[in-house]
Amino acid sequence: MANKLVAITLLSSIALLSCISVTISSSLAFYNVVSFGAKPDGRTDSTQPFLRAWMAACSSARPAMVYVPRGTFLIRSVTFNGPCRNRIVFEIDGTLVAPWDYHVIGNTGNWIYFKQVSWVSVHGGTIDARGAGFWACRKTSGPCPAGARSITFLASNNVEINGLRSINSQVIHVAIAQCNNVNIQNLNVRASTSSLNTDGIHVESSTGVTITRSAFRTGDDCISIGPATTNVWIQRIACGPGHGISIGSLGNGLIEGGVQNVTVTGVVFTGTQNGVRIKTWARPSNGFARDIEFRNVRMKNVGNPIIIDQEYCPNNQCPTMSSGVQVSQVTYSNIKGTSSTPVAVTFNCSPSVPCRGIQMKDVQLTFENRPATAFCANAHGTSSGTVIPKSCL
Ligand SMILES: *[C@@H]1O[C@H](CO)[C@@H](O)[C@H](O)[C@H]1NC(C)=O
Repeated sequence: MANKLVAITLLSSIALLSCISVTISSSLAFYNVVSFGAKPDGRTDSTQPFLRAWMAACSSARPAMVYVPRGTFLIRSVTFNGPCRNRIVFEIDGTLVAPWDYHVIGNTGNWIYFKQVSWVSVHGGTIDARGAGFWACRKTSGPCPAGARSITFLASNNVEINGLRSINSQVIHVAIAQCNNVNIQNLNVRASTSSLNTDGIHVESSTGVTITRSAFRTGDDCISIGPATTNVWIQRIACGPGHGISIGSLGNGLIEGGVQNVTVTGVVFTGTQNGVRIKTWARPSNGFARDIEFRNVRMKNVGNPIIIDQEYCPNNQCPTMSSGVQVSQVTYSNIKGTSSTPVAVTFNCSPSVPCRGIQMKDVQLTFENRPATAFCANAHGTSSGTVIPKSCL
């Protein structure tokens, strides 16, 4: 009797659960871009249909889904403006491509641009900005357009990007600026190793950004973190080829927000120019980088596995100046592998504001099967455990 009762209760709760899930999915207002005139043929300009589907979703009183089915959709630069009335899921089964002529999106700054939205999720899909022509232009003497980021979130909150593949961006693949609470996972980025400024993800002026389970093969930084950014969590990343994971460049502006509370853990760098880097301009600034932790990192044939470079000054714009950016409380632990250059650890800190509170614990980096070397200037801190190359702090 008791058993039967339990069974009945169980059954009815399953029925109740499935009923709830049906209600949830059927309560999503559904907007298929094809119903708005988009064509999956890779040739018809579908920009306006995408925009109309977005506007319908954005004014929906119920949570909405913008759905992009299989097929290739050609779109020019498009801005998805908020605020919207409800949550929106942008579900992509197909591929979005930019026009072959790189001028079309090249002067717009952003190709797929979300502005002032909240609770927007982008799920799945491939976006291909077809940047090769633009990269080629930049290798000539020009003139070339400034280039467009492939997908940008500006001034947005509670954003999720899950399972997106972004290839061949003109410049940055994924840009996050002035956002709160952003969760990026299962992102796959690929651009030519020789393409310029094709960062995988660039984050600035944002707080609460999580980037996990993602892979980057690109011509610039896998992930870069700009000024005024706090509470960043980066975990389970494959980076390379590329320029590594970089905090910076910081300190370009005299008055600038700092970077604070960044954790990078569980990263494999393969053949990258740098591993974990902090980079600041050699000029006056009130910026800072503090409470930064790099741990559980494998280096495979990396140019500068660990580097703080406070002498960044392209085109000699700041001769005789030194960086005002204070770098402090930076921890490196369990970082192992191989360097492709003799100097595996570089702490080239500012003479006017030396680095403070650098900690190294269990670092083992070799160059050609021998211990690599370390370089320190104006760097203070401690080391513990096995540290190879021997610490110069
Ligand atoms: C640091 O950032 C993490 C998220 O990455 C957050 O959970 C934590 O609360 C932050 N710590 C402080 C002291 O703000």
